[in-house]
Amino acid sequence: MMVAKSTVKEEALQKIKVTKTTASRLSEVDFDNLVFGKKYADHMLVADFDGKEWKNAQILPFQNLSVSPSNAAWHYGQAIFEGIKAYKDPQGNPMIFRPYDNYKRFNISAERMGMPEVPEWLFIGGLDLLIDLDRNWIPTGDGCSLYLRPFMIAADEFIGVRPSDTYKFAIINSPSGPYFNKPIKLLVQDKYVRAFPGGVGYAKAAGNYGGAMYPTMQARKQGYDQILWVDGYEHKYLQECGTMNVFAIIGNTAVTPDLTQGTILEGVTRASVMDVLSDMGLTVEERPVSIDEIVTAYKKGSLREVFGTGTAASVAYVEQLDYKDEHLRLDTAKYEVGAEVIRRLDAIRTGRAADTRHWNYRVGE
Ligand code: COI
Repeated sequence: MMVAKSTVKEEALQKIKVTKTTASRLSEVDFDNLVFGKKYADHMLVADFDGKEWKNAQILPFQNLSVSPSNAAWHYGQAIFEGIKAYKDPQGNPMIFRPYDNYKRFNISAERMGMPEVPEWLFIGGLDLLIDLDRNWIPTGDGCSLYLRPFMIAADEFIGVRPSDTYKFAIINSPSGPYFNKPIKLLVQDKYVRAFPGGVGYAKAAGNYGGAMYPTMQARKQGYDQILWVDGYEHKYLQECGTMNVFAIIGNTAVTPDLTQGTILEGVTRASVMDVLSDMGLTVEERPVSIDEIVTAYKKGSLREVFGTGTAASVAYVEQLDYKDEHLRLDTAKYEVGAEVIRRLDAIRTGRAADTRHWNYRVGE
C-alpha cells in the first residue's frame, strides 16, 4: 500500500463524481452461464488527463465513449491496460485481488509508453468506489469473478507521430466465467517473436497483444489454443504462453522464466503462484528455462506438469506442447500440483482461507 487506504478513499470521494444508473441491467445477465468478457456491469469510471493533471473523474452508467477518428491511440497504439479480479467472501463482502500490484504495473507500462502516471486516488480509490457500487455484479460460481479492466488511451486529435498530450483513463467491469474451460494445446513459436530485450514486452501495452494475433491465428488453424513464445536470439528460452506466464513442474521443482530480460509480463498471478508453490513445499526457480530442458525432462519422465498463469486464465493446464518434431503429451487429469495451487488460490481469493499475505483489498471499508 502506498498511501493510507482511508486517505486515498477520501481523495477519491472528493474528486470522483458519481452518477448512478436508473436502469440496472443486472437482471438481464444469466449468472449461471457466464462466459469471459462479454457482459458489462452497470457502471464505469472515466477521467481525462489535460496535459497537466487528471480531471473530470466520474463514475457513470456504462456507455460508449466518443472518440475522434484522428485519435492518436487508434493510429499509433499509445494504449495500456490491466486485468484484475473481484470476488466475494463467504459473507458476501466484495474483495479485489492484489490491486496495488496491478496499479504498480500499470504505471510501469505508462512510463514505457510515454504516458502519464495515474494517481492512487483515481486507480485504487476509483476501483473501490466503482466495485462498491457494482458489488451485486460479482459472480460467485465456480471459476467466476468480476473481471476489472482499467485502461488508458492517448486522446489527442492529431495524426502526427508524437506522444499525446492528453489521455483518457477508464475502468470497466465484466462478470466473467473461466477464460479457458478445458486444458490447452500449445505450439512453441520459433519464427515469430513477441518481445526483445529493450522492447515493450514487460508492459501491458495493447500492441503486444495486437502483434500476437497473426501468429496465434496461424497456430489456431493447426489446432492449437495458444503460442508458447521463446526468445528472439536463440529461439529456445521460454517467455510467455499466449496471455499467460508459464510454469513447468519438473520433479519437485517449479521453474518459470525470470524477468531480467524485460521481455515478459511480471504477472500478479505468477507472483501469487510462486508463493503458493513454496508454501506447498516445492522449490521455485525463476531463471532462464529452455525448451530443450522441458523436452529432456519429458523424455526422462520427470516433467510432471506445465501450466499457464494469468489474471484472466487463472491457472490453465497444458495438455499438449509441440516444438518442431517434439510432441509432448501431458495427462492433465493427473495434475496434482496445479490442482492444489488452484484450490489454495481460490480459497484465499474468496476469503475461505487465511489471507496471510494481505492480498485481498476489502471494498467499501
Ligand atoms: C489478463 O490475464 O488479465 C489479461 O489481461 C489477459 C488477456 C485477457 C488479455
